[in-house]
Amino acid sequence: MTEAILLVGGKGTRLRPLTMNTPKPMVPAAGVPFLTHQLARARAAGVDHVVMATSYLAEVFEPHFGDGSDLGLHLEYVTEVEPLGTGGAIRNVASRLRSAPGEPVLIFNGDILTGLDIEALVDTHRTSGADVSLHLTRVEDPRAFGLVPTDATGRVTAFLEKPQTPEEIVTDQINAGAYVFNRSVIDTIPAGRPVSVERETFPGLLADGAHLQGMVDSTYWLDLGTPQAFVRGSADLVLGRAPSPAVPGRCGDRLVLDGAEVAPDAKLSGGTVIGAGARVEPGARVDGSTVLDGAVVEAGADVRDSLVGAGARIGARTVLDGAVIGDGAVVGADNELRGGARIWCGARIPDAAIRFSSDQ
Ligand code: GDD
Ligand code: MG
Repeated sequence: MTEAILLVGGKGTRLRPLTMNTPKPMVPAAGVPFLTHQLARARAAGVDHVVMATSYLAEVFEPHFGDGSDLGLHLEYVTEVEPLGTGGAIRNVASRLRSAPGEPVLIFNGDILTGLDIEALVDTHRTSGADVSLHLTRVEDPRAFGLVPTDATGRVTAFLEKPQTPEEIVTDQINAGAYVFNRSVIDTIPAGRPVSVERETFPGLLADGAHLQGMVDSTYWLDLGTPQAFVRGSADLVLGRAPSPAVPGRCGDRLVLDGAEVAPDAKLSGGTVIGAGARVEPGARVDGSTVLDGAVVEAGADVRDSLVGAGARIGARTVLDGAVIGDGAVVGADNELRGGARIWCGARIPDAAIRFSSDQ
């Protein structure tokens, strides 16, 4: 298998974190735009041609990734006029594929960080003789995902996208967002109209007796749908828990990018990333967090599991825990922002303005 389709479209708002100027697939995770990790992993598995299916903002991807040659890939972009849904997006790029009808094509959602063994999925596909093979993972609460029950041989018996009722929750196996399709199956998706691969194509194929094979794999898997998950994913890349050949530097407790200044007694831990030209002042502690380019963490600040946007400033002794600070925002000294706090790009919080109380 040498070809892949990467799905990076859909409703624009969901792809843009509220507090960042950058669309989500391009927000740096472990120092590079998130999509770089997916592209590099595909390359490492033998993929050399990738078609990026987008419904907006191709102009953001193309200037950065270009023709893909920096990653050893041949990369093409196809932009939908109106979002075509996951299945429609796949069908819409069919003319760019070079594979013959019986050949496998890798398809993946653009918002997943995973250690999936891509070659094992392709092997499963070949040995089972399936029309489509799906990477499945197990989660505690499957309601936000596509449920995929399988029989004893791993053959898919149903596909239930976003189950609503308790009776529909028949398994903890979910669609992990990576597939191998036989090229000929892609050509059967109707062209020129929105199609959901999850709600229409998979159930339709099953009804027609097609062979869908599931491969349950308990490797690292994270849906980066929320900023909190994004921060976790970035830290896990740095820590080496989420394997990616695109992490710039050795895996460890921290990643400090070029031109960043970190005071000798500042403590960086838990997979923290300090972006290019950012500054961490004396006595500050940053744990499990992403501090983007040019941001400043002032003396004695305590930043945990948080995202600090490009050029933002965190005042002295301020505590952040599970917070997202937008690009260019300024949080004054002696503030406390916890669990879910979101500061808009460019907003200004005065000194000693917010604290959290444990009183009832
Ligand atoms: N080009 C294009 N056009 N891409 C799209 C479109 C579209 O109209 N709609 C969605 N996508 C892309 C998204 O950018 C994302 O990378 C992927 O398709 C999945 O869409 P999401 O909107 O993120 O879906 P989801 O997270 O609710 O559910 C999907 O992912 C789950 C795993 O995280 C489904 O595939 C579930 O079955 C799955 O469990
Ligand atoms: Mg998603």
